[in-house]
Amino acid sequence: MNILLSRSPTGLDGVPAAETVLSHVDGERGELIIAGERVDDLARGCSFEGVTARLWSGGSGQAIGEAEVRAALGAGRQRAFARLPQLLAATPSLPIVDGLRAAIAALHAEGGLADEATIVGALPVITGALVRRSQGTSPVPPDATLGHAADTLAMIHGRRPDDREAAALDAYLVTVSDHGMNASTFATRVVASTKADLFAAVTAGYCALTGPLHGGAPEPVLEMLDAIGDASRIRPWIDAALSRGERLMGFGHRIYRVRDPRADVLKGAISRLAAGTDLPFAGEVEAYARDALRRAKPNRPLDTNVEFFTAILLDALKIPRQAFTPVFAVARAAGWTAHAREQQRTGRLLRPSSAYVGPMPKVGSDKPPVRTAQLRGSVLR
Ligand code: ACO
Repeated sequence: MNILLSRSPTGLDGVPAAETVLSHVDGERGELIIAGERVDDLARGCSFEGVTARLWSGGSGQAIGEAEVRAALGAGRQRAFARLPQLLAATPSLPIVDGLRAAIAALHAEGGLADEATIVGALPVITGALVRRSQGTSPVPPDATLGHAADTLAMIHGRRPDDREAAALDAYLVTVSDHGMNASTFATRVVASTKADLFAAVTAGYCALTGPLHGGAPEPVLEMLDAIGDASRIRPWIDAALSRGERLMGFGHRIYRVRDPRADVLKGAISRLAAGTDLPFAGEVEAYARDALRRAKPNRPLDTNVEFFTAILLDALKIPRQAFTPVFAVARAAGWTAHAREQQRTGRLLRPSSAYVGPMPKVGSDKPPVRTAQLRGSVLR
């Protein structure tokens, strides 16, 4: 049976768009595997450079080591800093999230160097510069001897992070580096499937990431926590929001029918980072929101997703909330570049069909127009 006949054709639910060796999401069991490892094991024992090496090896079909990635990313950050004035040329009046979009679009191949490292290296440099510009301060040059996570924090804050801060961001970057056929990865693969280059593909991925139903959610999570204010207002605030038909940011997922495994990985990273972050209050909000969602949508399991704890972790690292989505992109760029390469290497042009439900031209004055329902059936079969 055509899978589109049994599911909503509008959201492509359950439709495999590609074969991949990069990551697998099991929504029923709440499991995420990235390049052969469970996400919780990876976040415990692997750096961002390590997971990037696995992803780039999978995407290119050639073994790439962690040390090679570390050197390539350090050099990529330095190249991006040298080109910063050109990269930021179209961004002066733009907020951070939009400024990064314009700057990614200005990236291009740089003679013989791996495009992957140019892209992944550039993102924290641009993000750091945009954050600092919004605060009226100058960009800080990268330090190629630091890890990607530590250097990202250094370029945002203008000071070298301590080990706990660097470890917390590293755990975050690993945890969100890839996640199956999510919307931004799909967008990336669609563009790569046309044989457009990695720069075009990643620009598309970033654009898809910025929406609040995807990577734009963490800033609204903090706004929700701010709006709730204190523990006494949790119940009335959430009940009122749900009765108005609003969505609670940081909850629900297209694939997971149980808790997003990344949520607990990040919760662990937050508790290692610092006692005294807002976790007790956030924990109460989370607990009540899960209960309230169970009551409000008994037929649709809705649980905490990665964005809820992303917001708390990035806030604890003093990253301004306007930069949450760009910092997500710093991590996901590893996955996007690997998927783009894999799609170009092994995939086919991605070209789905649509179910036309609009009017049809009259074939002849004596013939009635073809009925839409008949047409839809014929397209789907
Ligand atoms: N709060 C309240 N209700 C919700 C939520 C939520 N967070 N999520 C889904 N629902 C409801 C929908 O309103 C819908 O109700 P209805 O059947 O009465 O109309 C029902 O649950 C089913 O929702 P769908 O739209 O089918 O769910 P979908 O799979 O499309 O949504 C999504 C997934 C977009 C993530 C959704 O859960 C959502 O909007 N969450 C809030 C935003 C968010 O946290 N985004 C980050 C996702 S993680 C990531 O991308 C990295």
